[in-house]
Amino acid sequence: MPSVVTVNTTPFEGQKPGTSGLRKKVKVFLQENYTENFIQSILDANKDSIVGSTLVVGGDGRYLVKEVVDKIIKISAGNGVGKLLVGQNGILSTPAVSCIIRKYNTLGGIVLTASHNPGGINNDFGIKFNCSNGGPAPDHTTNEIHALTTTIKEYKTVPDLKCPVDKTGIFNFTVDSKPFVVEVIDPVQDYVSYMKEIFDFPKIKSLIQGTEQRKPFNVLIDSMSGVTGPYVQAIFIDELGASVNNVRRVTPLEDFGGAHPDPNLTYAADLVAAVKGGDYDLGAAFDGDGDRNMIIGRGALFVTPSDSLAVLAAHAALVPYFQRNGVKGFARSMPTAAAVDRVAKELGMEIFEVPTGWKYFCNLMDAGRLSLCGEESFGTGSDHVREKDGLWAALAWLSVIAVTGKSVEEILKEHWAKYGRNYFTRYDYEECASDPCNEMMTALEQRMTAPGFVGSSHTSGSKTYVVKVADNFSYMDPIDRSVAMKQGLRIIFEDGSRIVLRLSGTGSSGATVRLYIDSYEAKDVLGDAQVMLRPLIDVALQLSQLQNYTGRDAPTVIT
Ligand code: G1P
Ligand code: ZN
Repeated sequence: MPSVVTVNTTPFEGQKPGTSGLRKKVKVFLQENYTENFIQSILDANKDSIVGSTLVVGGDGRYLVKEVVDKIIKISAGNGVGKLLVGQNGILSTPAVSCIIRKYNTLGGIVLTASHNPGGINNDFGIKFNCSNGGPAPDHTTNEIHALTTTIKEYKTVPDLKCPVDKTGIFNFTVDSKPFVVEVIDPVQDYVSYMKEIFDFPKIKSLIQGTEQRKPFNVLIDSMSGVTGPYVQAIFIDELGASVNNVRRVTPLEDFGGAHPDPNLTYAADLVAAVKGGDYDLGAAFDGDGDRNMIIGRGALFVTPSDSLAVLAAHAALVPYFQRNGVKGFARSMPTAAAVDRVAKELGMEIFEVPTGWKYFCNLMDAGRLSLCGEESFGTGSDHVREKDGLWAALAWLSVIAVTGKSVEEILKEHWAKYGRNYFTRYDYEECASDPCNEMMTALEQRMTAPGFVGSSHTSGSKTYVVKVADNFSYMDPIDRSVAMKQGLRIIFEDGSRIVLRLSGTGSSGATVRLYIDSYEAKDVLGDAQVMLRPLIDVALQLSQLQNYTGRDAPTVIT
């Protein structure tokens, strides 16, 4: 009979979860006891309820997922967990983990992903804990996990317990006379049946296959060699009758084929080129773990995530899930352009502005005040789970198209004609040196909060902007009244235009600076965002001295 072994260990520095879990280079996780310490700390943070509990375990298929699944099985057995639901081969998309936690009322789940960060032995890995509501652990829980990692002295494991995860099935073990069960589950089944409840699949199928009156709506769905491959095959090919020509990169690869699995115009450039050059009506791409999405229309017309959220909010009543459950309210992260705010106003809905990170939406959803939300970083989702959900967003767009009979371009342009347009762009300066970036943020904050800054004028070309508000964004959760401070520097001008600057919390090394720019136009809605926003970008670069501090004269990614 396998038995529990207690292993002595010492703390590692820096096991502090960021915007979305602990992310480091694979080689950091490969250090002896590094991964074990963090898993033990997650279980210790739940110590009052861990014995006999059920947890969900799965990841995005990147390098190291299988090895870490094995460690989690052994350490869970060592800590008296009753049962694990493990995705076959360790595969579960992030939204699928959330769905399964909720469906089977488990204590939570451990998600193995570094999301959109590259994979492979020289790249990134990540571990994230999700709570019983299916959502990423809130700050107080991740802070507790981090505190535990700083004092850890031992972990408990069952080294002799061998559990294959390459086939589905129920595996019963007895550990020191107590039962321990691992159920290896089909990664896609629960999620796909949930999507069939949420959306009208027959309607989307007739859109994709075409009818006597209408030619097939030609989609190109790109999994970027991430975890969504099997989900895309099950949904688009098996359920919705698309052909293999409608999907690409649907085999999950440990290194994502060497690509950066982030669905944006830079890293999904080949999808953009394929849609531009081909006869496609819609293109969609998802990130490594399946929670992000990018939507493009015919000719690769780009839908910004801020606009995507607003369009879906305006059409939410077309989705069967919202018809049954009602639409309760909308939300966006602070740097996300305020297009959805205008829809909320029109529909008389509550709208919330939260810090960056999906975890900030979850309390509002649990309290029944939020149905649909999004982030400018290609995150869109609803209260059907407690993670953003890339496939859900693509299916939501297809639902709107199937019901209205309009193209992506018509839908977007009609939306702008009605509500006006929030032009938006984000500049990312990836992997800069940390110290100068921190200095830049401090210097800018000092300048912004000095007397006289509010009311000051800033000119670029023919445009002059007068500062109305300048602060480091802080947020009080309306449900539990917890406060998140220092969530990004924002300068709001009298005309409503905004400059936001923050440092990424998901990188695994160095600093990534994110500069967000947005500006609203009621009438002039058909311009090019980069041209329209140029004066404001120049003001931002001038105020922050970003190029001096980072030594970069151009961003790595422009959205
Ligand atoms: C980034 C995005 C943020 C998103 C997170 C996880 O975080 O900006 O909106 O929630 O990834 O996908 P950041 O690196 O900016 O901290
Ligand atoms: Zn992701």
